[in-house]
Amino acid sequence: MRIALGVSGGIAAYKAAELLRLLQDRGLEIQVVMTRAAQEFVTPLTFAALSGRRVITGMFENPGEALPGESAIEHIAVAQGAEAVVIAPATADVLARLAHGIADDFLTTLALATRAPVIVAPSMNVNMWEHPATQANMAVLRERGVQVVEPGAGYLACGMTGSGRMAEVLEIAESVFRALHLRDDFENETLLVTAGPTHEPLDPVRYLGNRSSGKMGFAFAQAGLRRRGRVLLVSGPTHLEAPSGINVARVETAGQMAEAVLEWLPQATVVIMTAAVADFQATSVVGHKIKKQDGTLTLQLRPTRDILSEVRSQRRPGQCVVGFAAETDHVLENAAAKLHSKSLDLIVANDVTQEGAGFAVDTNIATILFPDGRREALPQMTKLQLADRVLDAVAELRKCS
Ligand code: CTP
Repeated sequence: MRIALGVSGGIAAYKAAELLRLLQDRGLEIQVVMTRAAQEFVTPLTFAALSGRRVITGMFENPGEALPGESAIEHIAVAQGAEAVVIAPATADVLARLAHGIADDFLTTLALATRAPVIVAPSMNVNMWEHPATQANMAVLRERGVQVVEPGAGYLACGMTGSGRMAEVLEIAESVFRALHLRDDFENETLLVTAGPTHEPLDPVRYLGNRSSGKMGFAFAQAGLRRRGRVLLVSGPTHLEAPSGINVARVETAGQMAEAVLEWLPQATVVIMTAAVADFQATSVVGHKIKKQDGTLTLQLRPTRDILSEVRSQRRPGQCVVGFAAETDHVLENAAAKLHSKSLDLIVANDVTQEGAGFAVDTNIATILFPDGRREALPQMTKLQLADRVLDAVAELRKCS
């Protein structure tokens, strides 16, 4: 879920950095857009470093630096991709331009082009705030459905005291969460999630691995954060960046994944095992690069640790354990057998040979199987949506237990 964070040129611009962190802590991806005036107060570099992405600073900026697919119509792409636009601080000037539909820079163009909720946090001198022009603009914006996080009263940077001080960043963040209808139902839960493949070394340069990208596990991490859960993520080798606000242990092998999982297990209330753990490892890892020699090579393999069964033997009452079954045939039968043999609370089955499901893609097609025999077949959806649906099922089980 991408949020556009507009920063305009007020003394409170530096507080937008803190707002950015609060939004990220709920698993939201942030695209920062700065007006020209904002850059007089804070550098784009600050926001680029915090958000991990390029900050948009103008309409026709550095065309030579545009990434493939980016162009002068980037505002349309950002407008369509954003699920909310929040402008904090919003100066009197930006509010006036929004009220009049003026689109003379990236931020105001974006605000005009989006259909997502727009949230503004005004910040200005008390006289400017109380001026009939500003109040008339605010009335227009409210009437149009723009959500206003009311400024507070207090000491202002200009030396005056009165209304116009930007609302607390926590309050602004809460308005964004409300606009996005984020839920709080995992507030008291700690999710332990495994993600990605494992790599089992053969020699210093080669390993046995699989096609898992880790996307499903990272989607659970994000979904858990959005529902205010605490997230512990154990990830095999992936290229994915973990959302800020979660604890991540990066591992290579099944053995290391098992160690990390068992270390965190006592803290977890919900365990979600999406990792495609390698089932075999070499009986001995060769210390030097294996040479081609006569053109044939026989590998001797032995099973890796079965993390799920170790979790099962060490789990404490009340812990909910969810497994994944990535199958290529007899999908539901195989998954139902694993649900029972591994004493899981839920299993999510998917046919990895289906288009739009399985490894590397952003979508999945899955069926959730419950121990009482119930099955919930889900249509193709993004991995984040699937993670949310599985968390819905977990929440339902926890209500009954
Ligand atoms: N799993 C695990 N440790 C392993 C293998 C699997 O924790 N060494 C977990 C996976 O994360 C998944 C579940 O067990 O949640 C089922 O994984 P899967 O590979 O489908 O099952 P296996 O028991 O390995 O059965 P098989 O490979 O024979 O289908």
